[in-house]
Amino acid sequence: ELSADERTFQDRVDQDIRIEPKDWMPEGYRKTLIRQISQHAHSEIIGQLPEGNWITRAPSLRRKLILLAKVQDEAGHGLYLYSAAETLGASREDMIADLLSGKAKYSSIFNYPTLTWADIGAIGWLVDGAAIINQVPICRCSYGPYARAMVRVCKEESFHQRQGFDIMMVLSRGTEAQKAMAQDALNRWWWPSVMMHGPRDEESVNSAQSMQWRIKLFSNDELRQKFIDEAAEQAGYLSLEIPDPDLKWNPDRGHYDYGEPDWDEFWTVLKGNGPCNRERLEARRSAHNGGEWVRDAAVAYAEKRQARQAS
Ligand code: 3HC
Repeated sequence: ELSADERTFQDRVDQDIRIEPKDWMPEGYRKTLIRQISQHAHSEIIGQLPEGNWITRAPSLRRKLILLAKVQDEAGHGLYLYSAAETLGASREDMIADLLSGKAKYSSIFNYPTLTWADIGAIGWLVDGAAIINQVPICRCSYGPYARAMVRVCKEESFHQRQGFDIMMVLSRGTEAQKAMAQDALNRWWWPSVMMHGPRDEESVNSAQSMQWRIKLFSNDELRQKFIDEAAEQAGYLSLEIPDPDLKWNPDRGHYDYGEPDWDEFWTVLKGNGPCNRERLEARRSAHNGGEWVRDAAVAYAEKRQARQAS
């Protein structure tokens, strides 16, 4: 049975009235937003690592500049989202400590290796493509700071997706070796991208509540289907083969039927035992330790400035 406050809160959410940081909110609403937004921020920060691996190896200056801009955008998305989580009372130090200790989750997709340049194309096309499908609805979610952060993130994400698809277009129209490289990247990135949208709806412990609170506007499987329907057409345009023998247009449903993802792999990656989980956290830990002096210097400078202004 809802309390009077919870009833008023739910009415506001049902009327699409934005909830702002100073508004009353159920503790569970605050908690699940801190959970989701902090994991979203962690994903953006960790997401820089697979792509960063190719900044020094980009095939041309132009591709290097574009990739640099994209990785820089991801850092900004992460900082944006940590700030959104802070409006709910989360402490940035605690969130970062939870990531570095391995306690916090971040998107499974970033625990896979980037073995060739075509991976950078597949990531932009599929991973940022899936991310856009997941993030556009969040622009209309009930929590103000999160929804507003997503507006800018989605604009930049669209550039990320276009540059990835452009790489895949060039490779799929190139030499036999380039086509093979593009197909190999699709083979390795397809299923992890399908799993990005989370477990099946019936396995999703958070969806029902998150949908009632309009944090989640569409279910995991709805967004997954939207992603697959779009990517299947795009792969056809690239003359690349999606590695799913069960992928087939179903005119009765008006969607593509598709095979069952390997959920054992999904949960294994979430438990920290994916191909690159350890390497990703190691990289973050050493970057965090290496940046200690910068944080100390910034705090010392801020204290000096405050002292000067106070005197
Ligand atoms: N990777 C890691 N964990 C995942 C996951 C994934 N792909 N999908 C689901 N999970 C976790 C959930 O966090 C949850 O665990 P928790 O309760 O400990 O947090 C558990 O699996 C069950 O999943 P649910 O469906 O019940 O969880 P949610 O309701 O939170 O739905 C979600 C999962 C759809 C990822 C949702 O959290 C969400 O929309 N998050 C915000 C968007 C986001 O994080 N996008 C992906 C990464 S950002 C990105 O791609 C950046 C771009 O630049 C490439």
